[in-house]
Amino acid sequence: MIIVITGKGGVGKTMVSSLLVRCIAELKKDAKILAIDADPATNLADALGIKALMSIGEIIENFNVENSKNINFLDYLRQKISENTTHTEKSDFIEMGQGEGVGCYCSVNDVLRFVLEEKQKNYKFVIVDCAAGLEHLSRKTTTGADVLLIVTDTSEAGFRSAETIKKIAVHAGVEEDSMFLVVNKVKEAREVRKVNTGSEKTEKVKTGSEILNEKIANTKILEICRIPYDEKVIVYNNSGTPLINIPSNSKTYPRIKELAEFLAG
Ligand SMILES: Nc1ncnc2c1ncn2[C@@H]1O[C@H](COP(=O)(O)OP(=O)(O)OP(=O)(O)O)[C@@H](O)[C@H]1O
Ligand SMILES: [Mg+2]
Repeated sequence: MIIVITGKGGVGKTMVSSLLVRCIAELKKDAKILAIDADPATNLADALGIKALMSIGEIIENFNVENSKNINFLDYLRQKISENTTHTEKSDFIEMGQGEGVGCYCSVNDVLRFVLEEKQKNYKFVIVDCAAGLEHLSRKTTTGADVLLIVTDTSEAGFRSAETIKKIAVHAGVEEDSMFLVVNKVKEAREVRKVNTGSEKTEKVKTGSEILNEKIANTKILEICRIPYDEKVIVYNNSGTPLINIPSNSKTYPRIKELAEFLAG
């Protein structure tokens, strides 16, 4: 099963990815799991508390240097990926990194498609932490996903991105019923807003959670997980402590555990 995690920048993709690795590993003790950091500004390895080896971007660059030896690119890639996979008790890990050329990682993106095709044969679960933006979907690198998790925070911008991601994913051929919304950093609903419904007499007061539920409904993406705002996540990130070790009694952990049970149970 390929699970791809997308969403606007900073909404919590890496948090969801790292804890999903832990929760699926706890749930399916014998299942082989591969975590892929597909964000060139890599930080999934830190969240998992592991050391990344050579990235796919670096492997491709080395191939370009060594190309004179007439080695078959895909054979080279297979061998180097296997050598540069980090093995841990919970999962294996590879990092896509950035390809050569300023601001261009298209070749790495193309290779991600190959990696996903190859790896799904050997791993029961492949979890892909994507970069913010639409690059992977618009280039159809991740359209082989069985599950597309679209993460948002409660901001308008987060929801707008979620809707755009859905549109592009549908256009790229991802089945709508494989897309799910994960709403992160939800604070206690204290906000109360007056909404004018036409006549002054029928002015209605909406609570924060009603407004949030409306935003969620408007996306027309099935919400499968709502994660509270959790100070512990901030503390772990600020101190550089791997998020994967967050205590089970944190606000976040039980929600991701439910998500893992829904996806893998
Ligand atoms: N449930 C939460 N409660 C509070 N803070 C959170 C929560 N989830 C994530 N954060 C914080 O939000 C920030 C972004 O989280 P994270 O790195 O997981 O997002 P991202 O979508 O992967 O970001 P990027 O697009 O930069 O890769 C971090 O500082 C993290 O501590
Ligand atoms: Mg991230």
